[in-house]
Amino acid sequence: MEKLEITGGKRIFGTIKISGSKNATLPILAATILTNKKTIIKNIPIVRDVETMATLLSTIGSSVKLNKIKKKIEIINNNSLKTFASYNLLKTMRAGVLVLGPLLAKYGTAKVSLPGGCSIGSRPINLHLNALEKMGADIKVKNGYIKASAKKGLKGCLIRFPKISVGATENILIAACLAKGKTKLRNCASEPEVQDLIVFLKKLGCRINKIGKRSIDILGVEKLKSTVHKVIFDRIEAGTYIIAAALTNGRLKITNINPKIMSTEIKLLNKMKINIIKRKKYIIVSSPKKIKKINIETKPYPGFPTDLQAQIMVLMTKGEGISTIKENIFENRFMHVSELRRMGAHIEILGNKAKIYGKKKLNGAEVMATDLRASVCLVLAGLVAKEKTIINRIYHLDRGYEKIEKKLSNCGLKIKRLT
Ligand code: UD1
Repeated sequence: MEKLEITGGKRIFGTIKISGSKNATLPILAATILTNKKTIIKNIPIVRDVETMATLLSTIGSSVKLNKIKKKIEIINNNSLKTFASYNLLKTMRAGVLVLGPLLAKYGTAKVSLPGGCSIGSRPINLHLNALEKMGADIKVKNGYIKASAKKGLKGCLIRFPKISVGATENILIAACLAKGKTKLRNCASEPEVQDLIVFLKKLGCRINKIGKRSIDILGVEKLKSTVHKVIFDRIEAGTYIIAAALTNGRLKITNINPKIMSTEIKLLNKMKINIIKRKKYIIVSSPKKIKKINIETKPYPGFPTDLQAQIMVLMTKGEGISTIKENIFENRFMHVSELRRMGAHIEILGNKAKIYGKKKLNGAEVMATDLRASVCLVLAGLVAKEKTIINRIYHLDRGYEKIEKKLSNCGLKIKRLT
């Protein structure tokens, strides 16, 4: 099994180009099921989850051409895709459930595996299923599969999500594009990745009207067009490298981004005294002599993202005084804490709150990655730890970070993959 070996204490200098967003690419790929015309998606990150979604699409019969060098994917569908997505594909990637909405909307039937369990929380999909039922689908969950049918097609209606969910907003938004009549979605997620999906769907010919921050109206259409779309940048990858630069005491230029989309994160890091020079398409990050403590809570966009919680926790171990984090999105997202403690961090957990004691010297250790963002937080800890850190189970990291060891080692940090 592959591992990462990191020797801490080096300073970062150079430029990192941010990849396209994984979380924007996945729903856009699922949404290509809606059309039979050619779609070309550019700026996709070459990471495991994107490859898994490409495999899922070709398994159900799409013609998929993935060009890893040009970072683009070309998809052509026909009218007879299989409407079955197996456990084998969904067990490694929860976002596979995003094919449920488009398959059901286009073919009136779908059998999709329930996504596998997840270390960060139970992650139910009740919001997806309840909304599809409200649109007229008959849904049965049996033997680990969701069997959905809507013989006469899905019908537009009013759906008020009882909780903000990125995945449920995306699944229902995509399905509503081919439903009969108007669907009104309320209390929607407004993450930049959802917004990018809307841009893509509109280019396909979907009739979508976004009203304010949390309402989306969709008027179903019968046929869609072909299109080319460039995926937005990965704001979580960008945030991770800002934190890497803040920790390693150097100077890093981060390109291929739009800092406006990350204003919450940038403001918060500014409060910790991290220096960030903002330009239209890039930022330059350098660290101060003293990092200030801070109290944060994770929230749906435009709040602070749960996907950056583990990374900022590492920065807090270097702050002055005690910082706190309240995790509001996932009930079990402090799995990284026990590994950080093994590296010398002093962190107390009470329910969904963490208390992080600053000015701690971290020591290298052999540690285990438990999920995608937890893995990258261990990489960050390794970069500032004394001596060597070995990170096991890095397949989690490969699901969402493109060439992380190359991007960091090109900037002077000592990190390599052991195969
Ligand atoms: C997406 C992101 C993930 C991010 C998360 C929150 C992708 C591929 N993944 O995951 O990286 O951490 O948003 O920003 O884009 N919930 C329910 N019932 C449901 C659906 C969700 O109770 O049917 C709950 C979840 O358990 C969680 C909360 O709603 O507590 C938010 O989850 P959701 O926004 O749906 O996350 P994902 O779309 O799975």
